[in-house]
Amino acid sequence: MLRQYWQPAALTEELNDDRPVVPVTLMNEELVLFRDEQGDLGLIGRPCPHRGVDLSFGRLEDGGLRCPFHGWLFDVSGRCLETPAEPATSEFCSRVRNLSYPVREHNGIVWAYLGEGEPPDLPGLDSFVAPRSHVFAFKGMWNCNWLQSHEVGIDPAHAQFLHRVLDNDSEEYGQQFRDLVADTGMTMTKLMREASAPTIEAEPMPYGFRLRTTRNVRDQFTHVRLSNCIFPNAITIAMSREMSITQWHVPIDDRRSYWYSVFVSYGAEVDGRTMRDQRISQVTLGDYRPRNGRFNNWGFDPQEQRTSSYTGMGRDINVHDQWAVESQGEIYDRRREHLSPSDVGIRMHRRMFLAAAEDPSADRLVGRNTRVEGPIAIDAVTTGDDFDTAWRELETIRRATSSWAPPISFE
Ligand code: FES
Ligand SMILES: [Fe+2]
Repeated sequence: MLRQYWQPAALTEELNDDRPVVPVTLMNEELVLFRDEQGDLGLIGRPCPHRGVDLSFGRLEDGGLRCPFHGWLFDVSGRCLETPAEPATSEFCSRVRNLSYPVREHNGIVWAYLGEGEPPDLPGLDSFVAPRSHVFAFKGMWNCNWLQSHEVGIDPAHAQFLHRVLDNDSEEYGQQFRDLVADTGMTMTKLMREASAPTIEAEPMPYGFRLRTTRNVRDQFTHVRLSNCIFPNAITIAMSREMSITQWHVPIDDRRSYWYSVFVSYGAEVDGRTMRDQRISQVTLGDYRPRNGRFNNWGFDPQEQRTSSYTGMGRDINVHDQWAVESQGEIYDRRREHLSPSDVGIRMHRRMFLAAAEDPSADRLVGRNTRVEGPIAIDAVTTGDDFDTAWRELETIRRATSSWAPPISFE
């Protein structure tokens, strides 16, 4: 079912100029992504169709990728162009074909379609519509099943615990929201701590579902957060007044997944270099494996947990989320869990997911053939009780003042 949607296969930055050839494992398939001399991208099977050696060690030449074992040459569509160890008269090569999948490069990510039939259009999400100057894309590996990773993003009730800093005045968590929370005189961590039992509602949408999380703070005002599940394996959440993040969780195999995040700015251009430096400090380049993990208890420090952060795992919220999904084990036995009323998003996703997995025909899959706009990911604060008007007004202003964001329908 996941194959019936475009999925992120690599970051554009992985295809370096010297030798744009990258091994990719996606949905448990061993593939190789490369850019040929004409600049065309191909995603083909990694085992050579001749005797199975690894084509990611291939030679990029003569209009394709050449196997170093006996010189067979494959183009981006998986066609075999030459079998040079055979007699010149041999037509053997016309009978050989490697696996190949459609790919498209867009806003820093190479997308692949591993499904049946014709691929759908690329989504119309803001992260696709925004110009390259206003997006930043990055990725990282988590050692667990993709669904565990996805379910942290559709669980708005964890932020006020998992990401809490113990210093009430610290602006570190949610500092991007300081404009918004400045009106309230509170930092985000304090605001969330004051209202730690939010009301969470999930509403089905043509692309998946929308989550509305409201937190009444001391009967003085309400914080409203709108986020979305873009079915089947993406979320979009607000980062600040100017920025949102869209994140895909895609299986490498059953027990490992990559998150791909696209930061979208509705205001100024993004400072991609600084953002990349921040993220790079947390991963090992090559396979984008995080620097912390089970092997070092995710950096856990009991002293820090007593005095400074709720987790004792530093201030990077990505590490907190990583612990939340990896410490369950690679595939958690869900018969042992107890979903509570605040897990409304997780329940809705599982219902949609199971229905789609039962009947994965392309024309019936949620959001697959729908032109998705937005969706809206925003934080608002209001003293009234018309929460929807509060976020709609803010979103209307944001889009009207953005250099690129199209107007959006709220329904
Ligand atoms: S194994 Fe690749 S050409 Fe022989
Ligand atoms: Fe989180």
